[in-house]
Amino acid sequence: MGKDKLRKFRENETFSCLIQPRTEEVFGKDHPLKGHWGEKMFGNDRPIVVELGCGKGEYTVDLALRNPGCNYIGVDIKGARLWKGAKYATENSLPNVAFLRTRIEFIESLFAPEEISEIWITFADPQIGREKKRLTSPLFLSRYRNFLKRGGIVHLKTDSRYLHEYTRAIAEQNGLEILACTSDLYRRDSKGTVTESFFEKKDRDFRPGEDGGSASGEASSESYRQLLASPLASVCGRDAIDALFQVQTFYETQYLDQGIPITYMAFRIDHEGPYVSPEWDPDRWER
Ligand SMILES: C[S@@+](CC[C@H](N)C(=O)[O-])C[C@H]1O[C@@H](n2cnc3c(N)ncnc32)[C@H](O)[C@@H]1O
Repeated sequence: MGKDKLRKFRENETFSCLIQPRTEEVFGKDHPLKGHWGEKMFGNDRPIVVELGCGKGEYTVDLALRNPGCNYIGVDIKGARLWKGAKYATENSLPNVAFLRTRIEFIESLFAPEEISEIWITFADPQIGREKKRLTSPLFLSRYRNFLKRGGIVHLKTDSRYLHEYTRAIAEQNGLEILACTSDLYRRDSKGTVTESFFEKKDRDFRPGEDGGSASGEASSESYRQLLASPLASVCGRDAIDALFQVQTFYETQYLDQGIPITYMAFRIDHEGPYVSPEWDPDRWER
């Protein structure tokens, strides 16, 4: 292991906002913080929002700075990435930010029923061909249902059209409520055409931007208007819609620089009984 990584791991041990359970603390049993994050970590009972696969934690930190009335927990397995967010939160004494180093597979050992108000999934691996590892599969949705408040929202922001379409299909198949859905968040095309072909296997010559498509991360009039008119805006308000454009993850900025469309979807997972896998066409999407 490199010296820099070792230094970050050592420093991680000193951050009180960073929880790093050992596998034996969460494998098949409950962690002491389960059901007590409000009281023991944040010292209040404000709503808690979780970002899954938060990487370096920029999104978690930025949302927390904008919304001091909520608590935020970024979850990732990579300690060297979490170091960045945890260091920032520590140096800036952010009272409403925590980070959790664990595999998301263990998440039910860490959060109790109704403990979490919202979930963000940001730029997760689409796990093409490996549904059980996909963060919006029936397996993962049933894990989230065990700790998300009834009516709680799951947000999915991703560059992967495959993951976006799979998630939309699973929501439709299981009758989940979709509050907002766009296949190109930053689209600037005033013609209103959808830049689907960027992802489709059959049309590889397409270049984003040639039809005025995705670019630098400004709120496009097209999808911005669409989102303002969506049920999400009534539930979360205009500031939350603005934040969709203004708050960007590390990977998001890189994809935007490359002209790759960013998709977004918000949905509820309230559902009795098991979730079922969707009937959809996985071969349609390249990535
Ligand atoms: C592509 S990165 C995105 C990071 C960040 N959300 C961003 O957009 O900049 C995906 C992150 O998810 C984390 N991750 C993937 N699968 C995970 C799992 N099962 N448990 C915990 N973290 C996971 C990886 O460690 C990685 O940091």
